[in-house]
Amino acid sequence: MRISVVGCGYLGAVHAACMAKLGHDVIGIDVDERKVQALAAAAAPFFEPGLEELLREVQATGRLSFTSDISAASTSDVHFVCVGTPQKKGENAADMKYVDEAVNALLPYLREGAVVVGKSTVPVGTAARLSVLVERQEPAAHLMWNPEFLREGHAVSDTLSPDRFVYGVENGSEEHAAVRVLDEVYALPLEAGTPRLVTDLPTAELVKTAANSFLATKISFINAMAELCDAAGADVTVLADAIGLDDRIGRKFLNAGIGFGGGCLPKDIRAFMARAGELGADQALTFLREVDAINMRRRTRVVELTRELCGGSLLGQRITVLGAAFKPESDDVRDSPALSIAAQLQLQGAVVTVTDPEALQNAARRFPELHYEESTELALQRADALLLLTEWQEYRELDPYEAANIVSATRILDGRNILDATKWRAAGWTYRGLGRP
Ligand code: UGA
Repeated sequence: MRISVVGCGYLGAVHAACMAKLGHDVIGIDVDERKVQALAAAAAPFFEPGLEELLREVQATGRLSFTSDISAASTSDVHFVCVGTPQKKGENAADMKYVDEAVNALLPYLREGAVVVGKSTVPVGTAARLSVLVERQEPAAHLMWNPEFLREGHAVSDTLSPDRFVYGVENGSEEHAAVRVLDEVYALPLEAGTPRLVTDLPTAELVKTAANSFLATKISFINAMAELCDAAGADVTVLADAIGLDDRIGRKFLNAGIGFGGGCLPKDIRAFMARAGELGADQALTFLREVDAINMRRRTRVVELTRELCGGSLLGQRITVLGAAFKPESDDVRDSPALSIAAQLQLQGAVVTVTDPEALQNAARRFPELHYEESTELALQRADALLLLTEWQEYRELDPYEAANIVSATRILDGRNILDATKWRAAGWTYRGLGRP
């Protein structure tokens, strides 16, 4: 099929490459000329395992190209809208400017029977509003909503073999013409058995925000348990293992630590609350305010624990922060808890050095006042305390004996509860976890 992908950020660049991998002819369109040029040269503008290899592979087939000219969409049958919906400045609501612009820009180029497929995470009601614009077009076109559930760091495999497809169409009917079109796009993963649910438009939009809210709630739940474990002298990691064995609960997403960040969960739960308010259903989501508050409290807690670890004062203490990305296998620092903690510590008088295998450039752009060091070994030198804040494999594998010979003082705060506390203590370290005795 001939496919256009509008917006080549995280979602769009991966989606475009994966659609070409599935055998389609794909044109990726973005207003950012630099991004277009990078992608056209098979260079991913962000770190995502496997993406550059995939870009090279599919570009060699001639099935994938990139442009900043929206009129290139005129030969496509299917148009995926993959632009961002960031949080508005000073408000909880999502900024719909890019989605609205993308759909409006596509309108003059829609062919008879074309399908506009929204993938961006949007406030419920957006699809119905946009479908009016698309459906009243001459020649007739359709709009559907097909939310994306990919995780950064696993974006390629999540796109090629997702857990499920959700197709939102206007009447929620399997017989809708757009359903057949999207079935053709996803023919390979559908044949491989990926479940697909056809819903009405608002349900499809809500599935996405509900899923992210559930994940955020799970993380904040276990972080709340970590607060209790701290107060009671219990161990949240064992607690998570024990409750996780109940398969109604499950162990995944029960890792207590410094909390969730990134470009999705924090802004999505806030936008969800804002939208519920507009719909007069704000009470239904007041619990998300608490989820957000528990999450933000983690950052303050880590700053306080670091102060304790340093003997009561942060002034002049050399703190090394291991990890800047919001999670491993990503160079994304949007709302990264690690970086926000690093910045807080510096504000409170510590001398902070941040290291990360992939995210330093992005981190330096966001917080130029922090000191960055590429080499882990150099970052460790003369440290008065180490803070492990993003659980990259390299940091999981740190040798406590070797590290002890490099630092000034053997103190470590394990913000992700992934180190073996017994081993680190045996090597002479003062070890602190979060919610661990
Ligand atoms: C999240 C969802 O997991 C995806 O399903 C969704 O498609 C995506 O948002 C999106 O809306 O685009 P992502 O932001 O890539 O994906 O990251 P996650 O793997 O969900 O991690 C989010 C944050 O939670 C990270 O900061 C991570 O460190 C933290 N986390 C995760 C925990 O603190 N504890 C856990 O047990 C799991």
